[in-house]
Amino acid sequence: MPDSIPELQADHDLGHANTLALPSRAERFWLARRECDVVRGVELANRHDWDLTVLGGGSNVLLPPVVGGLTLRAELDDVSFMAGEGGAVHVEVGAGVNWHALVQRCVARELWGIENLALIPGLAGAAPIQNIGAYGVEIGDVLDWVELVDRRDGQRRQLRREACELGYRDSVFKRELANQVVITRLGLTLSTRPSPKLGYGALGDRVADPSSAQAIFEAICAIRREKLPDPLVTPNAGSFFKNPLVSRSLADRLLSAAPSMPHYPQPDGRVKLAAGWLIDQCGLRGFREGAFGIHDRQALVLVHFGGGSLEELLSFSERIVGAVRAAFGVVLEREPRGIQTAAL
Ligand code: FAD
Ligand code: EPU
Repeated sequence: MPDSIPELQADHDLGHANTLALPSRAERFWLARRECDVVRGVELANRHDWDLTVLGGGSNVLLPPVVGGLTLRAELDDVSFMAGEGGAVHVEVGAGVNWHALVQRCVARELWGIENLALIPGLAGAAPIQNIGAYGVEIGDVLDWVELVDRRDGQRRQLRREACELGYRDSVFKRELANQVVITRLGLTLSTRPSPKLGYGALGDRVADPSSAQAIFEAICAIRREKLPDPLVTPNAGSFFKNPLVSRSLADRLLSAAPSMPHYPQPDGRVKLAAGWLIDQCGLRGFREGAFGIHDRQALVLVHFGGGSLEELLSFSERIVGAVRAAFGVVLEREPRGIQTAAL
């Protein structure tokens, strides 16, 4: 059956399609360059009752040795700009556009809004899934709508930002709509009017000219290169855990023992802690066991030295969760998403 459909590849290697470089193969793989190809891929999965896994750049997933069903990548690569009112510029972006290349392109046109999101790996289509964020900005700040193909009825539809239920590393796509939709296009509103956001940490000290989006972009790239490992050199998935949200009373107890602990009070009364700091305080930064380790410049990033498996990675990460729980009474939640394993 797969032989009769040219786009459908059987037993496709995903080892280079995930930034953790975990060994993995897709039972079936479908590359969709146009929206109609996405629709056909979804119809095919529905007709055969296959699991459907959508893969972008693979920078936030934990792939099992075999991904069952159909793995689909939406590679729509169009970008268009339309001037709106009051300096607004509406940008429509295909899901397959490289996120960092988009940021670069917008900054080069002197558009403001996503310069703080420079150097985040992956494709634009994945950006709303965990509401990507860095240095005080989230995609939710500029997102207007998401276009998608819904596998439940095969229909294309548009979701407004409010319906995406964006939160910290969270959205409806990780909950009710998990594994149900393929995002094909995003609508963003950027601005020609300067709006520098320099409040995160010491970012302001690193920016040569705060009135230039290009200068902010360059400072962010420099900071990120100093502490985050390049996945092409040292495989990793960025932050392996989310920063935990804890009660005010727990935060106060921890702060009385360690007044310099980084903490970020939230509008709902809870307090966000820095998981990297907690892991670091356990003395684990730079710790290595077998094929996996904790990055020596950022304890929130787990790195793969090669030859390791998903099972080993999960057991390594559980040791970290255990150490942080024992030291601080805080339970860390994983950030990268798991994918179902095929029973071949
Ligand atoms: P993938 O890893 O391929 O997929 C992630 C999830 O999205 C999966 O569940 C997948 O099924 C789903 N998905 C992907 N595409 C689609 C689609 N078109 N339709 C429906 N579902 C889809 N993240 C941040 O938020 N901030 C950071 O600062 C940051 N820094 C990072 C630094 C490094 C070095 C690395 C390796 C990762 C970092 N990340 C960061 C995480 C990651 O880059 C983002 O989550 C990114 O959006 C993932 O994009 P991707 O295309 O690689 O998605
Ligand atoms: N810290 C330590 N030791 C460490 C790591 C961090 O003490 O080993 C301290 C830092 O000194 C700082 C605080 O913890 O006081 C926060 O560190 P950092 O600014 O590096 O940010 P983070 O909280 O570790 C988050 C995101 C990153 C994002 C940065 C910048 C999460 C899970 N991670 O990291 O996102 O780039 O902020 O905004 O929210 C990702 O999601 O993959 C990711 C890289």
